[in-house]
Order: sequence, then C-alpha cells, then structure tokens
Amino acid sequence: MNTSIGKIELCHVIMNAAGVRCITAEDLSDLDNNPGCAAVVTKSTTLLSRVGNEVPRYYDTAHLSINSSGLPNLGYKFYAGYPRCSKPYIISVSGLTTEDNITMIKYISWHKNVDGIELNLSCPNIEGKSQIGYNFEDMDKVLAAVSAVISPRLNFGIKLPPYFDMEHFRMAAKIINRYPIDTITCINSLGNGLVIDPETDLPRIKPKDGYGGIGGSVIKPIALANVRQFSKLTKCAIIGCGGITCGRDVYEHLLCGASAVQIGTEFYKDSLALDRILLEFVAYISEKKYTNIKQIPLC
Ligand code: DHB
Repeated sequence: MNTSIGKIELCHVIMNAAGVRCITAEDLSDLDNNPGCAAVVTKSTTLLSRVGNEVPRYYDTAHLSINSSGLPNLGYKFYAGYPRCSKPYIISVSGLTTEDNITMIKYISWHKNVDGIELNLSCPNIEGKSQIGYNFEDMDKVLAAVSAVISPRLNFGIKLPPYFDMEHFRMAAKIINRYPIDTITCINSLGNGLVIDPETDLPRIKPKDGYGGIGGSVIKPIALANVRQFSKLTKCAIIGCGGITCGRDVYEHLLCGASAVQIGTEFYKDSLALDRILLEFVAYISEKKYTNIKQIPLC
C-alpha cells in the first residue's frame, strides 16, 4: 500500500499529525519503531525550546478534542540533529516570525537526516499571533521568503488552517501555485473553539481564556472539503488530516484526493491507533478489491 507525497516515498498512507506524541527523543523513536506510522512528523518547532501553555490545555470527548498547548517543543536544533530515522523524517516548523522560519529552514536544509519540512501556517494557540493562513498577504510573503532559502532536496510542505468559503479556497490556491510547494496538509485544528464544563461553569481548558483548536471526528466534513478543494485547485500532493478514527475515514480522505493522511486526536487518545487504523484501512480496500491506492477513484 505504498504511496508518495511530493518528493517522499511512503510504505503506506498513515502517519502521526504534528503535535501528537512527537516532542521528545523517546516519542520520535517510538514513532520510528511504530509500523502503523509511515513517516515521523515532529512537533511544530520554534527557534527556542518552549514549555507551552498552562495546564489543563487539552480535553476530549468521544467526538472532539480541544487543545491550546502553546507550542511546547525542544527547539529546532534538537529536531534537526535527531539521528537518521528508518523512515522519512519531516520537521514541522512554526516560527513566531518570518525571520525565525528562515533561520530554522536554512539550518535544517543542510541536515541530510531530514527529508521534509512542514511549514505550519495555522497555529491558533499563541496569544497575540494570528494564523498566517488567514492573512493572504502575509502568507504570500512567508512563502516567498521560505521558497528562496529551502533546499530543493527537501520536500516543501505547508499545513493550512481550514477554510470555509469558496473564494478563500481559490485565493489560497492562487498564492500556493506561485511557489515550489510539494505537499499541503489539510487541515489544522479549527481555531479558537470553546468547550464549557456545565458542572464547574468554566471552560475545560485554561489557556487563552478557554479557547483552543478543535479536532476529532466532528471536524471530518470540514477536512474532507479542504482536501478535495486543494487537490483540485493545486498541483500539490495532499496529506489529509482531520477527523480520522477508523480505516473507512482514511478511505474517505483518499476519495477526496489525499495521497496520505495524518492522525491527531485519535492517536493522542490511543497510542495503538495508527496500527489499528492501518489494518482496518487495508481490510476495507481489500474488500473493495483494490490492490493499489492509485486505483481509488476521486469523488
Ligand atoms: C499548537 C497547536 C496547533 O494546532 C498547531 O498547529 C501548532 C501548535 C500548540 O498549541 O502547541
């Protein structure tokens, strides 16, 4: 069930979403040893290491998650220096400024142990910073600056926030098509949702007055819409992300044009989820008599 995403070949279609079980050396080694994970994606890194926001900063139910982690990570030099993995290794980069992104990407570019960058244009959880993907002028500037420094050897990926307006899909795609972007990960969490506990009368998480990114099965229709739009409007390979809890959800993402998928909330809840979902996906498409994911039609 091999696939390719831009310049990267994968032995199957499933990997972790940036942020989930991918902060420490032990996390990365677990991902490298996890057969359910076809590539190792790191926590979004910043120039300096960060402890992240106050806790509780994560909460989930059967259908959704909310998080405002605040980019806890070990800093870009740690992720750039992590020893060669047995599978593709992708560093998620989320600088607090364009200059930070340039510094990190230049440095990462000459590390041969790294296969790709996933530039995060959609972190919703930093006080006072808006999501770059929602400001098309800024997005254009960041992509121009990064395109000028990233090594052509690396897979250049971006991770977008969800869009909800047809004109926004077209505007984002028009900008993306001007740059040598290999992959688009659709979508990051739905920014700044609010989950309240009616027992305590308070928000479920503490940072940012309770606001956080929403993930989990409730976001799947939004994810599928974004995957389908960007697969039609750009030449980039699409990595589907959002609302995947079982093998059939993976299939739905591929029907909408994804070449691979990332799993966030479900993997946060269950460290064995990737393996289970891969087995379910393989059984599901075997039932449909597909022997290769390229046979899966577009919906
Ligand atoms: C965080 C959350 C995100 O959705 C993201 O894209 C990057 C970082 C966080 O809060 O750590």
